[in-house]
Amino acid sequence: MLNKPKKMIVANWKMNVTSQKDAEGLFLSIRNVVSKLEYTQMICCPPHMYVNQVAQHANHKNYRVGGQDAYPEESGSRTGETSVLMMKNAGAEYVILGHSERRHLETKLDISRKVIAVLEHEMTPIICIGEESRDKNWKKVLQQQVKDVFNRVPKKNPENIILAYEPIWAISSDKKNPATSTEYMEALEVIKKESQKIFKTAKAVEKIRFLYGGSLDDKNIEDFLKNANVDGFLVGRVSHDPRILMTMFRLVEDHVQKELFSISE
Ligand code: 13P
Repeated sequence: MLNKPKKMIVANWKMNVTSQKDAEGLFLSIRNVVSKLEYTQMICCPPHMYVNQVAQHANHKNYRVGGQDAYPEESGSRTGETSVLMMKNAGAEYVILGHSERRHLETKLDISRKVIAVLEHEMTPIICIGEESRDKNWKKVLQQQVKDVFNRVPKKNPENIILAYEPIWAISSDKKNPATSTEYMEALEVIKKESQKIFKTAKAVEKIRFLYGGSLDDKNIEDFLKNANVDGFLVGRVSHDPRILMTMFRLVEDHVQKELFSISE
């Protein structure tokens, strides 16, 4: 695909799949559809308990496995934690970090230590940032978050980093209040500008992959595909609904195909 990485849908199952049987069944039901796609990839992020089991079925480049968090030290007296090394040994290649649903449990220093540890273990961090509301300070909040996650991170392989913009006000709720592609693009501009100060060149920032997440589904994903510069999506609520997820994969695949077709014409 013109040397571009595939578009990705990251399925963050959160704590919504509660048995090995369900985890396996859900993954297998999506897997067959995803294996046939040419331009789209799924990163499945089950609860830690089921990472290993799902990873055993993830034997195709189109579907890979990630964790929902990981502790930066490899081992030690850390009751209840799952280390980056354990995550890797279980078969994860990606780790979601700094998710807003975990931020009350961790400091920004913890998050950046996790990012560094994940990179050191040759896995890909999917770092989540996003403001709490679109008040008058939202851009400053976002700029600070970019500084906090990137300042200490090694700068040499930005292509190994994924940054997900997940505004807290848009995440999974009964309100069902996704950001629009316009709001995403406004945020992306802020994020890229701030990242450039840290990574020094626009070229380096272009290598980072940027995702959108927050109340996405098969109804609103097209807005982002058509109107936003987005490398993929981070999906929660519908990530364990195979029917909706498959429609979303189809929409992404068709969109990329059309785009390529129009370029080659
Ligand atoms: P929803 O898709 O449920 O809004 O969740 C987004 C999210 O938090 C993914 O990490």
